Amino acid sequence: MKKMKNPADRAVLITGCSSGIGLCVARGLQQRGYRVFASARKAEDVQRLRSDGLTTVQLDLDDSASIQAAVDQVLEQTGGTLYALFNNGAYGQPGAVEDLRREVLRAQFETNLFGTLELTNRIIPVMRRQGYGRIIQNSSVLGFVAMAYRGAYNASKFALEGLTDTLRLELDGSGIHVSLIEPGPITSHFRINARTMFHRHIDAERSIHRSTYLAMEQRLAKPGPAAPFTLPPEAVLKKVIHILESNRPRVRYYVTFPTWLFGTLKRLLPHHLLDRVLLRISQQENR
Ligand SMILES: NC(=O)c1ccc[n+]([C@@H]2O[C@H](COP(=O)([O-])OP(=O)(O)OC[C@H]3O[C@@H](n4cnc5c(N)ncnc54)[C@H](OP(=O)(O)O)[C@@H]3O)[C@@H](O)[C@H]2O)c1
Repeated sequence: MKKMKNPADRAVLITGCSSGIGLCVARGLQQRGYRVFASARKAEDVQRLRSDGLTTVQLDLDDSASIQAAVDQVLEQTGGTLYALFNNGAYGQPGAVEDLRREVLRAQFETNLFGTLELTNRIIPVMRRQGYGRIIQNSSVLGFVAMAYRGAYNASKFALEGLTDTLRLELDGSGIHVSLIEPGPITSHFRINARTMFHRHIDAERSIHRSTYLAMEQRLAKPGPAAPFTLPPEAVLKKVIHILESNRPRVRYYVTFPTWLFGTLKRLLPHHLLDRVLLRISQQENR
């Protein structure tokens, strides 16, 4: 890949940089010479990132005022321009669909979809004015195949994919490119954060699924790679760099073998057979 002439002119705002993919991409892009604004929602994380040498802003996707303040702060420092937005911050809400209370599903959408859209819509006018820009959505393999006990997360990422596909059509000719990254298992704090949300929001004791939950709980608590073919977050960084530096970024970027596998199976298999494969995987992982 060709290195850009002057990436320092290119400011990139990233959400969810307290850990995992966001942190890795923030550091990686900064090392590559980009002007990175690494955001996190908690004050202590903002402080930590700052002492780590990153330029930071506080941004909580659940809070419109926080989104507005963060955008204002970034634009003030860049003189009103922004090359790219990496919509990365999100969490997974585990639990069977029939155990999802309305407010639990709403919370999942507030962060993964509504906050992300609100931020994006604050940035689009900036990019339209300047006539260029990159919007990168961190989706998931679970943005196009469903897995049992991940309904809330599946729904939020499927919705993100739909919204992004529409947005891409509407931005045609604007100079703004919108790409989706679809990672499979990546090393991060995702599982530990999902476990917290499971405990917070799912009444496991009273559920018909309680025995599965017991196994799921143990799986989420297990140290080490979450699943076979897990890759480090640098695998996502590579795709982000490609999107930022190629003249024509692709619409979708698969990351990890499972994403390739399920992408292919989804195209080839009839629905009921794909269901059998996905069901078998869920049964095995929650044994
Ligand atoms: N890890 C995987 O296997 C995997 C696979 C496919 C897709 N992804 C996607 O990759 C992205 C990054 O996840 P990760 O794996 O790096 O997990 P992670 O380590 O848990 O990082 C998630 C980040 O999102 C932030 N976040 C959560 N709620 C937020 C909110 N309301 N406002 C702003 N930030 C918020 C978290 O901040 P706090 O620390 O404050 O909670 C954290 O910084 C997510 O979009 C996820 O869906 C991950």
